This record gives sequence, C-alpha cells and structure tokens, in this order.
Amino acid sequence: MKVGIDAIGVSVPALCIDLEVLAKARGVAPSKYLDGIGTWRMGVAPIDEDTVTLAARAAQMAMTSAGAKPDEIGMLVVGTETGVDHSKPVSSFVQGLLGIGSRCRVFETKHACYGGTAALMMALDWIRSGSANGRKALVVCSDIARYGLKTPGEPTQGAGAVALLVSENPRLLELDPSRTGQFAADVHDFWRPLYSKDAFVDGHYSVQCYLDAISGAYKHFRELAPGVTADDFAALAYHVPYGKMARKAHRQLRSIDGDAAPDASFDAQVSASLALPAQVGNIYTGSLYLALASLLSTSTRDLDGQRIGLFSYGSGSCAEFFEGHVVAGAQARVQALQLQALLDARRKLTIEDYEAIMRAREATDEKTMETVAGDGFRFLGVDAHKRTYAGPSA
Ligand code: CAA
Repeated sequence: MKVGIDAIGVSVPALCIDLEVLAKARGVAPSKYLDGIGTWRMGVAPIDEDTVTLAARAAQMAMTSAGAKPDEIGMLVVGTETGVDHSKPVSSFVQGLLGIGSRCRVFETKHACYGGTAALMMALDWIRSGSANGRKALVVCSDIARYGLKTPGEPTQGAGAVALLVSENPRLLELDPSRTGQFAADVHDFWRPLYSKDAFVDGHYSVQCYLDAISGAYKHFRELAPGVTADDFAALAYHVPYGKMARKAHRQLRSIDGDAAPDASFDAQVSASLALPAQVGNIYTGSLYLALASLLSTSTRDLDGQRIGLFSYGSGSCAEFFEGHVVAGAQARVQALQLQALLDARRKLTIEDYEAIMRAREATDEKTMETVAGDGFRFLGVDAHKRTYAGPSA
C-alpha cells in the first residue's frame, strides 16, 4: 500500500518583522542575524491569532488543495508545544471551526518540535494497519515560538502552521514508515515550564543536542536502509529553528558518510528548503514541513520520483530521519498554493509595534470577548473561562 502526504497547507500570521530592524534595535550587526543565524524575517502573531487559528487556516488550505470533504477525515491530530489549555486539545477547536464530523479520533500530541512528526508517523501506521477504512488523517503542526525580548533566542522566534493531509495513494510524497531512524535522549536543552509563556533554552547546548540526535537517527536509518548514503537523496529537508542550523545538520549528516567537503552539496541538496523558513523563522513543530513545502515550491529541479530525506528534531529530545519519494506533479500542486505571495502579503512591524505586541501577548489568555468585527478565523477572547473563536466567514 502506498501511503504519505496527499496535500499540504501553510498559514502565517499577518505580521512580521525584518531581522535587520531587530538587529539594529539590539545593537547587533545585521549580518549576525542575516548570515550568522540565517533568517531574514520572522512571523509575529497579533493577539487575535493563536495556535488554533493558525492550525485552522493551514488545515483549510490543505483540505481545499486536495478537494477533501470534512467527513473523509477519520483522524485529526494537532502537534504543538503552544497548547491553549491543559486539557482541551487544539484539535477539538479546529474540528469545530472546520466542521469535521464526529466519527473521528481527535487529539493533540506534544514533544517539543517533534510532536507533529509523532502524529504523522501514527497517521501512516493507522492507514497501513487498515484501521482507517479508507479515511484520511489530518495532521496539523502549529506553534508560536517565543523566547522573550532581548534574549539570545529572540532572533529565532516565529509563528505559523503547516497541515498535512495523510492518505493512501498520496499526490505529494510517498513515505515508508518501516524505514525511519530514531534517536531519543533525556536532555534539558530547551523547555517551557508550565508557569512561563517564554521558552527557556540552553542555546549552544541545544545545538549540540540537535547534532547528536541527527547522528543517532541517521546511523539508525542507515542500518535499516543498507547501502543508502546522502548522495542517494535528491534533496534533504531538516528541522529549521534557523537557517544556519540546517547547514550544521547537513555537515553532520554527510560527515557520517565520511564526506570531507559537506558544504559542496549544500546548495544542490538543501538551499531550496530554506527559502520560506528564512522569511518565517522557527515554527517549531511545523519547521521541517515548511522546509518541505519550500523545497517543493521553490526548487528549480524536477523532483518527480526522486528520493528525499527528512530530519525532525524535538528538544528534550526525540528525533527521526526518514525518506520519501516525490510523486509526479507534486511540485506544481504546491506551487499552485502561491506560498510566497502569502508571505509577501504580511505587514512589516516597527520595533515599537513588535515590542508592544510581545508585551500584550502576556495577557492574552485572560483576554475578554472582543466586539470588533473582522474576517477569517480569529481568537475573540475568553468568556466564562472558555476560549472563543470566529469562524471563516465571521
Ligand atoms: N556576521 C556574520 N556572522 C556572525 C556575526 C556577524 N557579524 N556575528 C556572529 N556571527 C555568527 C557566529 O559565528 C555564529 O555562527 P556559527 O554558529 O556558524 O559559529 C552565529 O552567527 C551565531 O552566533 P552566536 O553563536 O554567537 O549567537 P548567540 O550566542 O547569540 O546564540 C543561538 C545563537 C544559540 C542559536 C540562540 O539564538 C538561541 O539560543 N536560539 C534558540 C535555540 C535554538 O534555536 N536552538 C537550535 C537547536 S534546538 C532545536 O532545534 C529545537 C528548537 O526548535 C528550539
């Protein structure tokens, strides 16, 4: 049975900030953020946007792209590390906003940035086992990355969601869940305590943990796929907390194959996957899949039938290296989503407006009901301790 990703959807908040503006405000050379970190712009969520609204928009795009109906979905999972409630999952709000029926497994997964990949692997197994009975799974990765003002992590924030429609006979990427390399370790590299909206991170240690994880996962993959080396991949998409991390990951991966000049293959194998992430920043669970969308929509090479490698990393940690084969026509399908136009439509913030929004988000969980009219999925506020949202046509 062929299983994999049938359609993809992406959403970003309507606001962003140029990292050149942030660098100047922080007294840092812009080249450190633009070249040293490898990100030019990052998404900023206004206060009527949250994990739910981002997830709903991305899911709607994936469903529309595939021509899928709500009653075809038998599993709806949101992977996130920016939950909105200790008990009620983001996916239940999304179910309501999209009108997905009641004959469906609906739940949320969490393991830092790996939560979406855990859901994807579960969805593939669910379909291959026969439990799906012909239905599809909707896996949504949605997050707002937030480290706090004037911290080293500040230029590695971002916000956005990526939805993956998972089915038999997929039209984008065929995946083989029996050939995935895994690595897990109990480390404290990045975490967000229950009492904090901001993430805590041991930045340089987190980079080392990521590199240890890619080594472990890729070595495991090679045992499961004897004879396969990095040269066998037309492209590689990595988890992208920031662009430079993907370069470090690529060096690490190729060094395991004994490649003494890993940078030589970087442009051909990795650059296309970084075009969109460089303009969005870190979106945690969705970062790898934004890299995949970027690869399929911006690569100038014909990837039909080609093997690509994907690496997912979640701090704490759990990681997975797996492979997929691009289905003929996938690039045209993703190009039709016009993702660059979505990014170009965002409003650029001044440093003052950015800081004001970051401070205002501190109190959004107690935000009272809004009376101002607006369009699209929006977080309206909290009424009698219940989060309330506007649907697509409000
Ligand atoms: N021009 C060009 N490059 C410059 C420069 C300049 N003027 N000044 C510095 N640089 C380069 C540095 O040489 C360095 O490059 P290398 O890594 O190749 O050596 C790069 O810019 C960054 O410089 P620093 O390491 O000095 O930066 P920093 O100490 O301010 O911290 C960071 C960087 C650790 C990534 C920090 O932003 C951070 O903590 N971010 C959050 C954690 C994170 O994203 N970790 C990634 C792994 S964990 C993960 O992937 C899970 C997840 O999503 C969070």
